[in-house]
Amino acid sequence: MPETIDKIISLSGRLTEMTDVDEVLKNLSRLLKKMLKSSWTAIYLLDREQRDFAPARSYGLPYSYQQMFLTMPLASGKIPLLKDIVHNKHHLQIHDAGESELLTPRFRRLLHGLTLLALPMVVRNQVMGVVFIARSREYPHFSTEEIDIIKSVVSQAALVVSHIRLIDESLDMAVEMAKRIDIILTLDGINKAISSSLSHEKIIETSIQSIQRIIQCELVTVLGEEKGRLVVTATHGAGIQIPESLGAGKNLIGNSMAATAFKKGESRYLSFLSKKRRLHPFDSTLAEAGIESLLAIPLVSKNKTKGVLLLGNVQGGRFVRDDAFAIEKIASQMAVALDNARLYEDMRNLFISTVTSLANAIDAKSPWTKGHSERVMRISADLAMEMGFDEEIIERVRLGGLLHDIGKIGIIEALLEKPTKLSEDEFPPMRLHPEKGVAILSPIDQLKDVLPGILFHHERYDGKGYPKGLKGEAIPLEARIITVADSFDAMVSERPYKKGYSVSQALSELRKKSGSQFDPKVVTQFCNYMKKKSPPDYHYPPSDN
Ligand SMILES: [Fe+2]
Repeated sequence: MPETIDKIISLSGRLTEMTDVDEVLKNLSRLLKKMLKSSWTAIYLLDREQRDFAPARSYGLPYSYQQMFLTMPLASGKIPLLKDIVHNKHHLQIHDAGESELLTPRFRRLLHGLTLLALPMVVRNQVMGVVFIARSREYPHFSTEEIDIIKSVVSQAALVVSHIRLIDESLDMAVEMAKRIDIILTLDGINKAISSSLSHEKIIETSIQSIQRIIQCELVTVLGEEKGRLVVTATHGAGIQIPESLGAGKNLIGNSMAATAFKKGESRYLSFLSKKRRLHPFDSTLAEAGIESLLAIPLVSKNKTKGVLLLGNVQGGRFVRDDAFAIEKIASQMAVALDNARLYEDMRNLFISTVTSLANAIDAKSPWTKGHSERVMRISADLAMEMGFDEEIIERVRLGGLLHDIGKIGIIEALLEKPTKLSEDEFPPMRLHPEKGVAILSPIDQLKDVLPGILFHHERYDGKGYPKGLKGEAIPLEARIITVADSFDAMVSERPYKKGYSVSQALSELRKKSGSQFDPKVVTQFCNYMKKKSPPDYHYPPSDN
């Protein structure tokens, strides 16, 4: 043994401090070469499929052989001697490596005349690799003592490699788990965000943001089915020029990838678009925009394909199976949510058209109030939106504006049709209309949140209004908004006894009564809003407000 035992123990002890498999193998092969004065050492490790021995490290080979070594795995099933080593977990000493069938013919020629020692790397009774050591026959054969020491060094290295692999696998698993947990949490978040919204735009916006959080993509397009055709609903691009073909409302015809995914109801994937020949013109425009990877996932709800989610990445070969799985989950949540939103939209439209005809019936009772309720609805909703309220309040204000005067249905027609101002005697019955409105609508459960806006739309900020004489913030917010919209429309409308104000006159009147009749904050917001838009045509037939 050319090296002293102490030196060997010290060098092999260093292996335990290493944290990288390649570093351990490099040092093991060097150590073996040094301590045994060998010409060549090579280490093979069992591959992940536990079938072949993959070349891991060699030491002492000429450069050209080094490259060859790295490309040549050993199949234990095809080499009986190797099979024997693995099966019996024992070493093998061959007196002339050139004669050994353990090696390929080229290696045999190179190692001709050398003594070859092959021994398994065993950990917990499992073979994880094989070590080859070839030494000149100038030296004696490997002695039993030498082989015992080699076995001890190799088994120590095998244990270190096995530990590092275990730690690496645990880390990989932890990273994978963390990734999956992140995807699950993201999916849960999306589910909550999507399910809590009944707005198409909100669902699409939330979905697009979530997709871009999970997977890197420069293009997200949502296509929906409209009368049997696939139409672009929304497109979001990041860092690319969005092709014209992806503009909202554009039809998708022919057999593009998205159209095929839609027809077949199955996801479709294309990598390296620029290398594909005979692309569909639609897909070609995406390739021209720099998209390389394309993923089209059908949006399926109730077993029916309702659209397609199309994702694009500027790099080729993206969208691995795990990504597609997560995106498919988002797509199915999106499809159901969009379907629900459409159902809700249909029901809401039906409901709105029913109550609109009810409101129109009131406006039609007086020739001066035609269209007043719908205008108040529009102004109130725009104002609530301007004030930054959420969808729920905007909807309440919209319906309250539409139905604010519904109680006039119970007022004698003569009063409604009167072309002059109401007399002192005529005011009391007219003042009952907010309460009558509530009485008419209160049986409708869906409208219960709308009632305060109707009941209090004639209250004044200074407390001098009716029916309750509520003051300031005690007046429900919806009512304060509807009051401003209602008064503005009344001011700009012509009546038989007065000409309609211009928009600026009406705004100055509102400002004048801000703090007395109207909530100053609402007036300020309304004036800001009106400044932003060009004055609309409010000169309708007079309203009796
Ligand atoms: Fe009214």
